[in-house]
Amino acid sequence: MKDLEWWQRAIFYQVYPRSFADSNGDGVGDLNGIIKHLDYLQDLGVDAIWLSPHYPSPLWDCGYDVSDYLMVAPEYGDLDDFIRLLEGLHKRGMYLVTDFVLNHTSDQHSWFLESRSSRKNSKRDWYIWQNSIGGRPPNNWYSWFGGSAWEFDPATNQSYYHFFFKQQPDLNWRNPEVKAAMLDTMRYWLELGVDGFRLDSLGMIFEAPDIPDQESGMTQQELYHLSRMAKSRDQRMQVARASRKMFRFQMDLSELHGLLREIRQAIDEYPGKVLVGETELVEYYGSANDELHLVFNFPLTRMKKLTPSAVLCNHFSRLTKLPAGAWPCNTLGNHDISRLLSRYGDGNHDIEIARLCLALMLTLPGTPFLYNGDEIGMLDYLANDISQVQDQIGLWTYRMEIDEMGHSPEQALAYALEIARDKCRTPFQWDNSPNAGFCPADATPWLPVNSNYADGVNAADQTRTPNSLLNSYRSLLKARKLTPALVYGGFQPLKSPPGCLAFFRGGRGVSENCMVVLNMSKGTRVIELPIRNRITRLVYSTHSREKKLESFRILSLFPFEIFIAAVE
Ligand code: NOJ
Ligand code: CA
Repeated sequence: MKDLEWWQRAIFYQVYPRSFADSNGDGVGDLNGIIKHLDYLQDLGVDAIWLSPHYPSPLWDCGYDVSDYLMVAPEYGDLDDFIRLLEGLHKRGMYLVTDFVLNHTSDQHSWFLESRSSRKNSKRDWYIWQNSIGGRPPNNWYSWFGGSAWEFDPATNQSYYHFFFKQQPDLNWRNPEVKAAMLDTMRYWLELGVDGFRLDSLGMIFEAPDIPDQESGMTQQELYHLSRMAKSRDQRMQVARASRKMFRFQMDLSELHGLLREIRQAIDEYPGKVLVGETELVEYYGSANDELHLVFNFPLTRMKKLTPSAVLCNHFSRLTKLPAGAWPCNTLGNHDISRLLSRYGDGNHDIEIARLCLALMLTLPGTPFLYNGDEIGMLDYLANDISQVQDQIGLWTYRMEIDEMGHSPEQALAYALEIARDKCRTPFQWDNSPNAGFCPADATPWLPVNSNYADGVNAADQTRTPNSLLNSYRSLLKARKLTPALVYGGFQPLKSPPGCLAFFRGGRGVSENCMVVLNMSKGTRVIELPIRNRITRLVYSTHSREKKLESFRILSLFPFEIFIAAVE
């Protein structure tokens, strides 16, 4: 069995620091809060943490607008706390991957303040400045987050480029000083001992230098209308095509591969570090393993329903596209999308469905990334009032709904809440005390706590309940660790009845092959095992199966059963 790198074996868990645990009663999660829960994380069975941005930020984009790459946000703690967090993880044999926001800084970053101060400033060219034409933006590009991609700056009579909010000006990575400064930033954290980076929005790093007008033939408002009206698959594809055309000159330029190779070389000066990119494009693995180590399988998060065919379509087409030697990376949740249970739950079998989602993450080939709170079944939280919405995308959507779609404030609120990412970022629910134990009872949490913490959606109650989702997480994570085939083995789908997904994981020198059967339906199912070999060990089942497994040829599956067995 060929040995694998730690990040190929590891189960990752994303911690959203603002919402994880508040240690000092200001209603905002912090590093000491995470440190206090390291035993929880270890006991859960995760091996590595991806920490969303921990840097100082004016929070226009909840930390993805960094104003100092070398510091810790004061509300999260200081560098000593960061080092204690890192040491606490390392002491437990765990790893820490930090978020690196490299496409843009905050407009409050000292680099940008200098850059905008004068055309002659030495950092002017660290950002992308262009002349405006007759009071109009330099071209017709849009920002992904709405409006023109250019912001006019009267002080110097030029406009700067921003792919996201205007509070997030894009860095000019073609300037060697920018590249050197950013690589030094990475080295700074590597020297401190971090184990790698999640590279934020890397596809947007370069845009066409001659800034040609985009020729989608429509305005962003028109695209918005089109996307709001799209019902059928064809219509949705039309929207996707129009959007690709609109942003064609602003993302995924081939020039990026050269830069990723340079970043990779810089990282490789520190053996054993990992780069995971916020992109789904498999070409960013590079060739001969020279760009990113991991590229997220985001298409999986876009499955409409959790069904065997949706998983298989995605997985097969994905696996066949991977460059030779590339290692898959699966996820079903993060801080930008609806909670997985809000997407896939049916309201009646939520725990069962959440378990299946986890089983899928842990048994498909590749590195799984889990999102904090999913282990206790946290759901999207929808605010009652627009004044509670913090995510600027939600506020922009609210305005678009009223101004462009002519919707009533109530209709606009309903849709804005769907789009705002606050819903999946609410405080972690630790117990059933006020504020769910996230912060003291008399503190005001930065986002409302979902009231379902009082109905068992919290870690303390679920720890005490043998069949809880949290305890299923613990036992499934443990089962994966004890079953090398689930990490090292090849992947072979097996013929299975409707609603069931069955596959074989094995070969590649593993000593014990494995069979996984996931009954995603609410009915019982019978599967005939197409394997000549004997079942030698029950690895995991959601149901009690004490009997002689070796005699099973025809297996009856309970509704929503997860059945994993070692086979000879
Ligand atoms: C992707 C991050 O995940 C998201 O939260 C952020 O808004 C954008 N990148 C911009 O940094
Ligand atoms: Ca705090």
